[in-house]
Amino acid sequence: MNHQIIEKNTALMGVLIALVISVAGMAEIVPLMFQTQTTEPSPGVRPYNAVELTGRDVYIREGCYNCHSQMVRPFADEVLRYGAASVAGESVYDRPFQWGSKRTGPDLARVGGRYSDEWHRIHLINPRDLVPESNMPGFPWLLTGTIDGEHLQTKMRALRMLGHPYTDEEISGAPAQVANVTEMDALIAYLQVLGTMWEGQ
Ligand code: HEC
Repeated sequence: MNHQIIEKNTALMGVLIALVISVAGMAEIVPLMFQTQTTEPSPGVRPYNAVELTGRDVYIREGCYNCHSQMVRPFADEVLRYGAASVAGESVYDRPFQWGSKRTGPDLARVGGRYSDEWHRIHLINPRDLVPESNMPGFPWLLTGTIDGEHLQTKMRALRMLGHPYTDEEISGAPAQVANVTEMDALIAYLQVLGTMWEGQ
């Protein structure tokens, strides 16, 4: 009988559905907030240094994430191709994270150290010089792109407020670190550190 009352009253049913979904959602989400595994860095994982952080901004600005994910799924084919499956603690210093799901190109979560800096430079200027069938665009303007050290300091201070443990020296020294660095250098430094920090893989 009670069931009929609910089924004949859409408003009541709507409220009850919302209630069931929110309780179930809370049951999934709330425990994650208290698991250090998802909020603490995995062993070896540190915040990006001034140059890598700048490279990450270039990566986001150029929309690399439109074609590249940064998360190795825990499946045999992925692990064989890319390396150890990604864990949450590797991404605590990624704001916003770059996991993604669109893979026009390969996953980049563990691309660090796979190629030389020179390989990346040639590839980023014109991918077809190295991979003739590639449909990745070239990014030659990064060679002449310079970096605003003051803006970088502001960003590092903001990240420190969110919990990234940057020291005063790291922040005050940031402009000097990027003074003679192009956007291309910074992007390559970022790519070379991807997936290399976590000691547990
Ligand atoms: C339109 C899609 C597209 C965009 C945008 C794109 N890529 Fe790619 N990328 C690809 C494809 C496809 C490949 C595979 C062929 C190749 O190596 O060029 C690739 C390969 C790569 C590789 C080699 C990975 C490996 O494991 O062999 C790197 C590194 C890379 N891209 C970095 C970048 C960066 C950095 C950006 C942004 C500046 C970017 N890509 C933007 C499509 C894209």
